[in-house]
Amino acid sequence: MTGLDTELDAGLEALRAAERYRVRRKVESRVGETARARVDGRDCIAFCSNDYLGLAQDPRVVEAFVNAARHWGVGSGASHLVSGHTVEHHALERELAEFVGRPRALLFSTGYMANLAVAGALLGRGDRVLEDRLNHASLIDGGLASGARFGRYAHGDVDALRRRLGHAHRGRTLVASDGVFSMDGDAAPLPTLANACRDVRAVLMIDDAHGFGVSGGGGRGSVEAAGLGLDDVPVLMATLGKAIGTFGAFVAGSDALIETLVQRARTYIYTTALPPAVAAATREALTIARTEEWRRERLRDHVARFRAGATALGLALMPSSSPIQPLAIGHEAAALSASESLFEAGFWVPAIRPPTVPAGTSRLRITFSAAHSTSDVDGLLEALAVVAGRHARR
Ligand SMILES: Cc1ncc(COP(=O)(O)O)c(C=O)c1O
Repeated sequence: MTGLDTELDAGLEALRAAERYRVRRKVESRVGETARARVDGRDCIAFCSNDYLGLAQDPRVVEAFVNAARHWGVGSGASHLVSGHTVEHHALERELAEFVGRPRALLFSTGYMANLAVAGALLGRGDRVLEDRLNHASLIDGGLASGARFGRYAHGDVDALRRRLGHAHRGRTLVASDGVFSMDGDAAPLPTLANACRDVRAVLMIDDAHGFGVSGGGGRGSVEAAGLGLDDVPVLMATLGKAIGTFGAFVAGSDALIETLVQRARTYIYTTALPPAVAAATREALTIARTEEWRRERLRDHVARFRAGATALGLALMPSSSPIQPLAIGHEAAALSASESLFEAGFWVPAIRPPTVPAGTSRLRITFSAAHSTSDVDGLLEALAVVAGRHARR
């Protein structure tokens, strides 16, 4: 064992002692259209994916993927600017732009990379970036890596943001926020955020990873649902691996914004393009997401049924109307034990612990999908009642 290994082992032991050690469950098979999976030798109903509309295994999406893979092969072979940009990618970018009502959209291989790209391409020394304290790690990392002055404001608190914004700033100011917060499920106060930014000519960027496909007309997302457009939110980012059920992400905005990203965003320029078959599958999924309103209706019904049932049980719901419905627990060990009990009862609900969430706020993160049935929701509530009763008796 090297000296490095000894040091690393001590670090891993510290994580174990703090109940923060993470392990991966192995999914052996999956019927995503019913949210059922076989995991670590146990059949369960998954309440933990971001496949909100149940599209990841839709036969039409799978067929589009397979057909395109037959035509294009698997890998794109190069970055977009070298030779990896196919007509399939290009058509998807046009369709995404049209869908969200913006002049252009640009595909990224992941949402993480899209978020690194924006701050990196738009900001530098002399600029500043202000972020909601609970933003996704990729938005935070993008801001930190940009070289701009970095600050956070209290979660969802536009007055706190205004205090930090002060008056007009010499350089550029970017304000970045999740549209729907990934671990809390609540929505950003978009209209007031937009007003605060407009007053000091700050640029507002919204990461709508969890709103895109779910809220707004046809699933156009949180920005559209709030009645805002390009002038209010010049930078719109969303992912394709969640409600759309495929993989990748995009940024949508003006021609100048997108062209700047093409020319300057390092995580766009220096990486292999998405496989064209993923782009083809995404085009199909986008059409389904836009037209099959029943998926969003079913999702809303599940959330309402769950919240009514959880309230009746006295569970610690958080203020969320999105498909992300966390139950506050507190200590890491208690969250882990509740998650384990649910798994033994056939319900896969992960415990989310620090550093993903602030210390003392460990929780069960329950996510709903149109792939669930009403009886799945009722079954989860029954299992939660048992787990909560057990906890109360401790
Ligand atoms: C709010 C938010 N932004 C960005 C990402 C990153 O997206 P991707 O998984 O495509 O890298 C995620 C989750 O993965 C997210 O929840």
